[in-house]
Amino acid sequence: MKRDINAIIAEMTLEEKAGLCSGKDTWHLKAVERLRIPSIMVSDGPHGLRKQSGETDNLGLYSSIKSVCFPAACATAASFDEKLLERLGDTLGEECRAEGLAVLLGPAMNIKRSPLCGRNFEYFSEDPYLTGKLAAAQIRGIQSHNVGASPKHFAANNQEFRRMTCSSDMDSKTLREIYLHGFEIAVKEAKPWTMMCSYNKINGTYVGENYELLTNILRNEWGFDGFVVSDWGAVNERVPAVKAGLDLEMPYSDGVGDKKLVEAVRDGLLDEKILDNAVARILDIVFRYADAKAENIQFDRAKHHEIATDTAKKCAVLMKNENELLPLSRQTKVAYIGPFAKEPRYQGGGSSHVNAYKVTGALTAAVNSSNITYADGFGIDGDSLSKEEIAAAVEIAENADSAVIFAGLPESYESEGYDRKHMRLPQSQNELIAKIAAVQPNTAVVLHIGSPVEMPWAKDVSAILNMYLGGEGVGEAADALIYGDAEPCGRLPESFPLRLEDTPCYLDFPGDGEKTVYSEGVYVGYRYYDAKNIEVLYPFGHGLSYTQFEYSDISLTDNDPYKVSVNVKNTGCREGTETVQIYITSDALLYKKLAGFAKVTLQSGESKRVQIKIDERAYEQYSEKLGGWYCAGGEFTVFAAHSSRDIRLNTTVKLSANKVVPLKVDNNTTIAELLSHPTTRPVIEKMLANFKTAISGGKDKEVSPQQSMIMREMAMSLPLRSLPGLQLVKADQVDMLIIQLNDIIKNN
Ligand code: GLC
Repeated sequence: MKRDINAIIAEMTLEEKAGLCSGKDTWHLKAVERLRIPSIMVSDGPHGLRKQSGETDNLGLYSSIKSVCFPAACATAASFDEKLLERLGDTLGEECRAEGLAVLLGPAMNIKRSPLCGRNFEYFSEDPYLTGKLAAAQIRGIQSHNVGASPKHFAANNQEFRRMTCSSDMDSKTLREIYLHGFEIAVKEAKPWTMMCSYNKINGTYVGENYELLTNILRNEWGFDGFVVSDWGAVNERVPAVKAGLDLEMPYSDGVGDKKLVEAVRDGLLDEKILDNAVARILDIVFRYADAKAENIQFDRAKHHEIATDTAKKCAVLMKNENELLPLSRQTKVAYIGPFAKEPRYQGGGSSHVNAYKVTGALTAAVNSSNITYADGFGIDGDSLSKEEIAAAVEIAENADSAVIFAGLPESYESEGYDRKHMRLPQSQNELIAKIAAVQPNTAVVLHIGSPVEMPWAKDVSAILNMYLGGEGVGEAADALIYGDAEPCGRLPESFPLRLEDTPCYLDFPGDGEKTVYSEGVYVGYRYYDAKNIEVLYPFGHGLSYTQFEYSDISLTDNDPYKVSVNVKNTGCREGTETVQIYITSDALLYKKLAGFAKVTLQSGESKRVQIKIDERAYEQYSEKLGGWYCAGGEFTVFAAHSSRDIRLNTTVKLSANKVVPLKVDNNTTIAELLSHPTTRPVIEKMLANFKTAISGGKDKEVSPQQSMIMREMAMSLPLRSLPGLQLVKADQVDMLIIQLNDIIKNN
């Protein structure tokens, strides 16, 4: 039954309207009993329900109900698997229905600008396309149960340092191509019911008061039709916020926000229609949830735990596997070292923190292994242990067929609320890994990290399996992967730099607290490392399997540049799953970017032709002059790759420009700009024909190739005002020429 929202609003008092636009408490919206408008509940988080029924808070300080903790986005992004994210969303949506939650506050999808951001564990990737596709899949899954998602934090919330007041300063090309494009994909492909606006400012204006972002771009350009909710405590001034398009202030503001809205309408400072629009959007979602046929769903934690474990298996990234050390045989003697084998780190701190249902360490999970010895080797908080305990770890490693060290970042090293200061693991871990590798060549390291770490021991160990923060099933998943009951197929959704100093925003992150300048522009992650050909520890898209794959015969399906196909063959001796990655670049695009990906599972010896759909914006770039996206045309190179640094095949695509960047000709417009513009080029080429004669003083003087090159390059930089000086045009003709050129542009 479609409600008549306008009729309901017509019956509401001004106070009721204003009241609906801010929370009743930390997690509920207000009801209007008189008009049978129900109160709805919203709750975190992106990888598990943090529903609080007792004391409430938005930082996970107080407990929440027992819920299944799924792998965090740092891990799920490594799946490169939209179906897997859709299943995660579907499972979370089912839990929301069972627990009476109308909106789940996730996915968290900010771009990983620096590996130091404390919340990177909660975010997907350094790449906006991968981020957008996976976020859209998760949103579709959540909303398939008629509960809403709330992709967050819109936008450019890429650090924790002074997150509530700091300004993310960047040009519009960077904002659009890197920090908005993921949200654009999510909104257009999954139609989220709500959008959470971020704490920070962008170029000095709070996002919550940014009409261009919240209305012009989000609604008018992308077609978002839900309500915008503030991050908790993100509203700076309530009236400018509602005018910009921020509909719902959370949590409650103890009546302050409501009162300001009422007074502003009464004083003629806020058009009541604007308030009505906000109320209408909120009511639409309230009834979309409340009126949906409530399936009688039980929260089946045991079943969801299995889904969490299976998800973790499909997200893990095998980063190194020398001499094919992994998978191990359960009949061999294996030394397990490190407290994460018993108590794995499986999630991050802050508002996404889940009161996990069942956590099992890899040591407990290894029930089918006959001969495992164990030693701590280092403290769970990264502290060192006694010499005796370290010696005990070295001894069991020495006396085993292989050693598996369960290492990673202690939870105090990364969290919502603060950023990391460095990329190092605790020194106690680095030292112990080196000691173990020195006595045991068959050493594997299993990592539990929410963001990249330096690995001074990477060359000394034989295998590195990155579980990321793999949720409550991470121990069982690691056990299955270590012994080959599951095969690793994750790919890195972010670059692992060799050193922090190599990172693109090293000098600007996290800024002075007032602002952080995104001087690296669009060169984030692999875009930067590849453009500068900087060596990295492990590249974006990297990941190994227990088998190998061969690519052949790349082509555009039906000559459609948005459909690439390639043959993939499993040339190894066991089943494996490959992620074919498509990257695109051209002179105009400035950088190589991920434009498509697809997974394929192949038996040993099997080959399939894989079809990969390409991002609608793959051949486009954002132009500040145009104020929009366009294809600059030219020749594009399309790569089929195993990772951003392991290119297997390429082909080319020739496209014509679909828009021309506007050129307003004036005295200072240069010859180069006029030659690069298709409509003005013929006029200038004709003029340049006389240039050689003009510049050599009217004589048809022979010039050397070097002199000819100098003249040509010089000519490019000439502004129109300098042409009379070269007798190319009369002084009194320059103005006429400018008018003529602008007319040519306008009339084409
Ligand atoms: C927090 C987070 C946001 C979360 C909200 C409610 O401050 O930034 O991601 O959903 O508040 O807990």
